[in-house]
Amino acid sequence: MHDIQQMLEEKRAKARLGGGQKRIDAQHAKGKLTARERLELLLDEGTFEEWDMFVEHRCVEFGMADQKIPGDGVVTGYGMINGRLVFVYSQDFTVFGGALSESHAEKICKVMDQAMKVGAPVIGLNDSGGARIQEGVASLGGYAEVFQRNAMASGVIPQISMIMGPSAGGAVYSPAMTDFIFMVKDSSYMFVTGPEVVKTVTHEEVSAEELGGASTHTTKSGVADLAFENDVEALLMLRRFFNYLPLNNRERAPHRPNGDPAARLDHSLDTLVPDNPNKPYDIKELIGKVVDDGDFFELQPDYAANIVIGMARMEGQTVGIVANNPLVLAGCLDIKSSIKAARFVRFCDAFNIPVITFVDVPGFMPGTSQEYGGIIKHGAKLLYAYAECTVPKVTVITRKAYGGAYDVMASKHLRGDVNFAWPNAEIAVMGAKGAVEIIFREDKGDPAKLAAKEAEYKARFANPFVAGSRGFIDDVIQPHETRKRICRSLTMLKDKKVENPWRKHGNIPL
Ligand code: HXC
Repeated sequence: MHDIQQMLEEKRAKARLGGGQKRIDAQHAKGKLTARERLELLLDEGTFEEWDMFVEHRCVEFGMADQKIPGDGVVTGYGMINGRLVFVYSQDFTVFGGALSESHAEKICKVMDQAMKVGAPVIGLNDSGGARIQEGVASLGGYAEVFQRNAMASGVIPQISMIMGPSAGGAVYSPAMTDFIFMVKDSSYMFVTGPEVVKTVTHEEVSAEELGGASTHTTKSGVADLAFENDVEALLMLRRFFNYLPLNNRERAPHRPNGDPAARLDHSLDTLVPDNPNKPYDIKELIGKVVDDGDFFELQPDYAANIVIGMARMEGQTVGIVANNPLVLAGCLDIKSSIKAARFVRFCDAFNIPVITFVDVPGFMPGTSQEYGGIIKHGAKLLYAYAECTVPKVTVITRKAYGGAYDVMASKHLRGDVNFAWPNAEIAVMGAKGAVEIIFREDKGDPAKLAAKEAEYKARFANPFVAGSRGFIDDVIQPHETRKRICRSLTMLKDKKVENPWRKHGNIPL
C-alpha cells in the first residue's frame, strides 16, 4: 500500500514539474508565472481541485511517443474565488509551449461540460503556441470541440479569458467567443497570423507587439477589455472582476453590502454640467459620485472612449453602466462605440445585471468613413441590444439627447423602465442651431432673424419638459439626488419580469 502511495506522490510531483525546471526558470525569466502559480493566485487558498493530472497525449508521430508529460500542457479543475465556484484551465507553456493537443483539448472540454452542468463560470488562462503541430488535424478538431462549447456556454455561464502569453492562429477564436478578454502587458499577444506570415502576404513589417500586443487590442482593435501590468496584477484584478458576476444566467450577481447610503446626496453634481452646451465634462466623475463607494470597474477605457462601459454596484447589487462621454468626440455614437456598448448591454441582459444609462449624446457621427464602414448596421446593434434587453433599465439624461441617438440610448420607447432627465436636459431632434438652419433655410442671409429663431427653438425644445409632457421622461430630477432616485428605481424593479416572444434566436445585425 505504502509503495503505491509513494508512486502516486512521485507521479504527482512529475506532473507538477511540467516541462521541467529549466523551462520553468525560462518562464520566470520572461516575468511570467507558471500555470500552477497562476491558479494559486487566482483561486482561494487551498480550494483548487485538479482533474486529469495524469492525462497524456496519444501522438506517435515525430518522436512524440516517448515525449509524454503528465497533464499534457494544461492544468484543469475547479476551485473558489471568494467562496464562489469557478472552473479553470491554465495552459502550461513549459510543456510543448502550451500547444493544444487532442488530449489537452479534451481536458478543457471536460471542465467546460461540467461547468455547464452545475452552472458555474469558466476562466481560461491562455499561454499557448497554438495547435500542437505534431498532431495535425487531431489538434484542429480539439480546438473546434472547444469552440462549440464556447458557443453553447455563451449566455449560460460567464466565460472569461486571460491572455498571459502567446495566443496565435485559430487559438484566438476560443477567447474571442468568451465574454471578456483580459491581457498582460508586454508578455501576451493575440493574432490570427503572426508577423512572418504578414510579411510574406502583405509585405508589412510589424512586430508581434504591434500586431497583437495588449496595447493594440485595448486601443486599436477593441478585442481585449483590459490590460494589466503583470501576471500578479492581472490575476488579482480578475478575482475582483469575478465578484461582479453571477455564476450563471439563472442566478443574480452576488450582493456585496457596503456602507454607502442609498439616499446619499451629492451637491457637486448640480454644477457638473457646464452652462455652455458645447463644453465637455467628465462623465466618469458623475459615475464615480453615483455608484457605491465611487467604485467603478471600467472596461475598454482606451477603446471607443466616446462611450464608457463597466461594472459597479448600487446598494451592493451589481449594475452595468453605459454612458456617453462628452470629453471624446462630444459623446457622439460611432461604429466602434455602438459595438462596444451593444455587446456589454447584451452581456448584462444575459446575466441578470440591471443597466444604468447616462445619456449626453449629440447624435450619430456623420461622415463618409462612418457610412462606408456601416454605421447603419453597427449603430443598429446598440439599438437592437437595448430593445431586446429585459433586465431593469434606468436611464438618466444629463444633457443632450438628440435625434436617433435619443431613441437608442435606453429611451422609454425601448422599454426603459425608469427614465429621468436633469433639469438642463435637451431632448430634441437636433441642436437648436442645426434645426433652425434647416427649417429656416430661406433666412440664411439674415443672421439676426436666425438668432431669434434659434432662441425660440431653444426655449421651445431644448428642455426635458416636452418629453416629460408625453411621459417619455418619468421625472425631471435634481442632479444631486441622482443616486437616491436610481437606488429607489432599482429596488422597485427588483422582481421585474418581461419575456420576449419565443423564437429560435433573433437576428441582430452582425
Ligand atoms: C508544438 C510547440 C508549439 C506548437 C511551441 N512549441 N509551439 N510545440 N506545437 N504549436 C514548443 C517549441 O518547440 C519549444 O519546445 C517550446 O514549445 C517553446 O517554444 P519556443 O519557440 O522555444 O518559445 P518562444 O521563443 O517563446 O516562442 C513561442 C512561440 C513559438 C512564438 C509560440 O514557439 C511559435 O511560433 N510556435 C509556433 C506557433 C504556431 O505556428 N502555432 C500553430 C498556429 S496555427 P522545446 O522542447 O524547445 O521547449 C493554429 C491553428 C489553430 O494554432 C486552428 C484552430 C482553428
